[in-house]
Amino acid sequence: MRTIIEPFRIKSVEPLKFTTRAERETILQKAFYNVFAIPSEDVLIDLLTDSGTGAMSAQQWAGIMQGDESYAGAKSFFRFQEVVQHITGFPYVIPTHQGRAAERILFTIAGGKGKVIPSNTHFDTTRANIELTGAEAVDLLCAEGKQPALIADFKGNMDVEALEALIERVGPDRIPLCMLTVTNNSGGGQPVSMANIRAVKAVLERYGIPLFLDACRFAENAYFIKCREPGYQDKSILEIAREMFSYADGCTMSAKKDGLSNTGGFLAFRDPQWAQQAREVLIVTEGFPTYGGLAGRDLEAVAQGLLEVLDEHYLKYRVRSVAYLGEKLLAAGIPIVQPPGGHAIYIDARSLVPHIPPEQFPGQAVVCAFYLEGGIRTVEIGSLMFGKTDAAGNHVAPPMELVRLAIPRRVYTQSHIDYVIEVAALVAQQREQLRGFRILEQPRFLRHFTAKLAPV
Ligand code: F0G
Repeated sequence: MRTIIEPFRIKSVEPLKFTTRAERETILQKAFYNVFAIPSEDVLIDLLTDSGTGAMSAQQWAGIMQGDESYAGAKSFFRFQEVVQHITGFPYVIPTHQGRAAERILFTIAGGKGKVIPSNTHFDTTRANIELTGAEAVDLLCAEGKQPALIADFKGNMDVEALEALIERVGPDRIPLCMLTVTNNSGGGQPVSMANIRAVKAVLERYGIPLFLDACRFAENAYFIKCREPGYQDKSILEIAREMFSYADGCTMSAKKDGLSNTGGFLAFRDPQWAQQAREVLIVTEGFPTYGGLAGRDLEAVAQGLLEVLDEHYLKYRVRSVAYLGEKLLAAGIPIVQPPGGHAIYIDARSLVPHIPPEQFPGQAVVCAFYLEGGIRTVEIGSLMFGKTDAAGNHVAPPMELVRLAIPRRVYTQSHIDYVIEVAALVAQQREQLRGFRILEQPRFLRHFTAKLAPV
């Protein structure tokens, strides 16, 4: 069969509230043109993030009722631990309330002043947690990954030569570990190949540096390997995932992505000493080692979600539906980061609205247009999120001005996506009329969450 369908039927529905364009104009004004300030009730299709926004299965909801809420030694923990061990092969499993909690614990024990942590691209919270300890976070993305319009299979790969050069330059003693983000969220949700993971591992092994995966979207990455990398076509997603983890010494995980859960995460290790140190931090900051900031029912939902995400029918639908959105946007004349990634489509706002300079936030102009025209919430990943002001007061723009349309898992149907495409076409028609923004008020850190804006 050629038609790829949603591999589920819907048992429980959440009604959507419709608003008029005039109402949305007022809502945007009241939110000071920052979509983080819009109540979710006033959003028709929410593509702000794929994190924690997925729909759980009947089995997961059943698991919620089975949750063992004992403080210590809960049955739910042992099930969670068994599933994580089954997939990753890591013997030591530490639950955390979400991904960044795992990062904070990892870098509390591994980071510190003078340390350097390389990655293909660190996600913002990973970078922040590294820098918080005084260590330096270094991105070593391959050259293809830096060209938005280029179509290549594994644009999330690390530049292995650059890794070796970095190790030679700063010395292995200053590099407590190396990370690989699979898939590479900040680089457009692009996958990392098995060959690249293996090559990175080979270099690290020579210097005795451990490898950690940021495994948030490990199943989507495994599916791309199956589809694109020679030798993996006949392997199951579980086999591919296990091989990915086999080259690593541990991982951080946000179960809000490929855990198909609304919350949760974990940290896992091969080495008992690292695990022991991590547990000591966990007890002080998250909770006892058999719940780590989660309820027993959350552990059940994550355990079940981790098994469901390995289903190839699900991954085929998932990756295909994201690609479908990308193809239709391109056909409507909207430039995107190519090829479509696993969890989101990234619009290249600099090309779409070239008349808006970076200091007037071209991405935010597109974000506001999507909301105004169709009640669709997206997110700016450009000058508003990452822009800086230098000593002379000039705007320093990041390399790209992007707008991310992240697709929640198992939530929207194809007609929802067709609606998004129709709204996008309308936005593209008005591209020349779109105007930029200026900042009225902003906090000192992570300004995109709370800044107040006004049209210029
Ligand atoms: N690593 C990656 C690659 C991520 O995408 C995220 C979260 C995290 C770590 C942190 O996990 O949110 O559970 O603490 N990404 C979300 C997003 C927020 O919208 O892309 P968390």
